Amino acid sequence: MNSPPTAAFEPHPTTGPDAPAAARLLASWYATGRPAVLTDHLRRHGPPPVTATPGDRTAMPLVEAVEAAGLTGRGGAAFPTAGKLRAVAERRGRAVVVVNAMESEPASRKDQFLLAVAPHLVLDGAVLAATAVGSDTVHVCLPRTRTAQYRQLGAALDERRRAHLDPVRLRLHALPPAYVSSESTALVRWLNGGPARPRGSPPRAHERGIDRRPTLVHNAETLAHLALIARHGPGWFRQIGPPDEPGTMLVTVSGAVAAPQVLEVALGTPLATVLDRVAERTQPLLAVLVGGFAGTWLPVEHLRVPLTRRDLAPLGAAPGAGVLVALAQPACGLTETARILAYLAAHGARQCGPCRFGLPAVAQDFTALAAGRADPDLLSRLRRRVGLLPGRGACRHPDGAARLAASALRTFADDVDHHLARGACRAARRPTRIDVPPATPPETWR
Ligand SMILES: Cc1cc2nc3c(=O)[nH]c(=O)nc-3n(C[C@H](O)[C@H](O)[C@H](O)COP(=O)(O)O)c2cc1C
Ligand code: SF4
Repeated sequence: MNSPPTAAFEPHPTTGPDAPAAARLLASWYATGRPAVLTDHLRRHGPPPVTATPGDRTAMPLVEAVEAAGLTGRGGAAFPTAGKLRAVAERRGRAVVVVNAMESEPASRKDQFLLAVAPHLVLDGAVLAATAVGSDTVHVCLPRTRTAQYRQLGAALDERRRAHLDPVRLRLHALPPAYVSSESTALVRWLNGGPARPRGSPPRAHERGIDRRPTLVHNAETLAHLALIARHGPGWFRQIGPPDEPGTMLVTVSGAVAAPQVLEVALGTPLATVLDRVAERTQPLLAVLVGGFAGTWLPVEHLRVPLTRRDLAPLGAAPGAGVLVALAQPACGLTETARILAYLAAHGARQCGPCRFGLPAVAQDFTALAAGRADPDLLSRLRRRVGLLPGRGACRHPDGAARLAASALRTFADDVDHHLARGACRAARRPTRIDVPPATPPETWR
């Protein structure tokens, strides 16, 4: 665990108006510049507080603390964490906890970074959550392509075993990598011996998940926040961020920045402030993709908006898993979007109509539009199909792709007109700017 995390994603140094104040999950890294092994972690945070013994359903103080803190999930949907804990704790039968460390969003690095520099914070959170919901087992899920991370986490688990730290069993799993394999029902399906494809239909994981047991799935970052709330309490958690969306969030910033970085910022920080911390831009920005590949393009005039769900919602956006991709001029937003849509279409699990037909058709039309090869009906067809995608899949994959496509048609409306009337613009012939993995379907779901 002595090697630094991926060189391309160094966190921002402790400068800037609130970098040190907002640093909680990354505080140790900011202070020492090295990943925290168990002894470092225990020296800094002390042992995880004892909240209950496994199987003790009467002990709910952690759930109450998490509720009072107002913690919401950092995996994308921002669901209240206490509600999920309670739903699992109230079910009959021994529960199971899953750490979602898959981070399949190609523009996100925050979970990989957090697990590299502070693995024990995440593992503490998982063990505390397990104890609170009456679980004896924690499954940690990673994609099997991240072999170095698998080794590092394996070493962290060994440290804890040697120290007899945990009252529950921790198991590490390497899953097939795919955009939708990280959706919570896909994890449950894989852990039950099936393909890592979303299931969507009832029963839901908290009712009957792994081995038919009530199952709690949380993002790695969410659990790290939970571990700090268990130690410092809800009042401490609420000292940062707005009252209705308190706390900090890890944000991955990439694209037109000096170097892609993971930052810990207070919720409510304006997007422009986050970007300024990592920017060394020579070119003016054209737009920013907020929330990742399933996110929303925002034009630069909206960059003063605070990073909260409440403030982003009127713009059709959400913080999601904390992803900002800056696109500088000159670039063609339609071409970048077409590439992302092609990737998302290739990675659908093709079990439902929108993934089998709607999403590939939208991606195809977007490619034609970006290339300046639109037929006269393309725009109305594209708009209709984009409108039909959301809410029709068994999971939210098509909804995210529709959000991205609709926001591109809005934000790059002038380019749409240009491409329809006069063919592809000059920027469309320039090298593309955003790193998008190949649009090839996953090799395996098992
Ligand atoms: C297509 C798709 C991909 C997802 N990928 C991830 C992921 O990589 N990591 C993650 O934590 N959650 C991901 N989610 C959300 C999970 O399904 C789930 O809501 C989350 O892990 C719950 O954790 P939280 O409550 O701590 O946010 C994804 C959802 C969808 C629809
Ligand atoms: S919408 Fe797509 S990814 Fe989601 S369950 Fe259906 S086929 Fe799978």
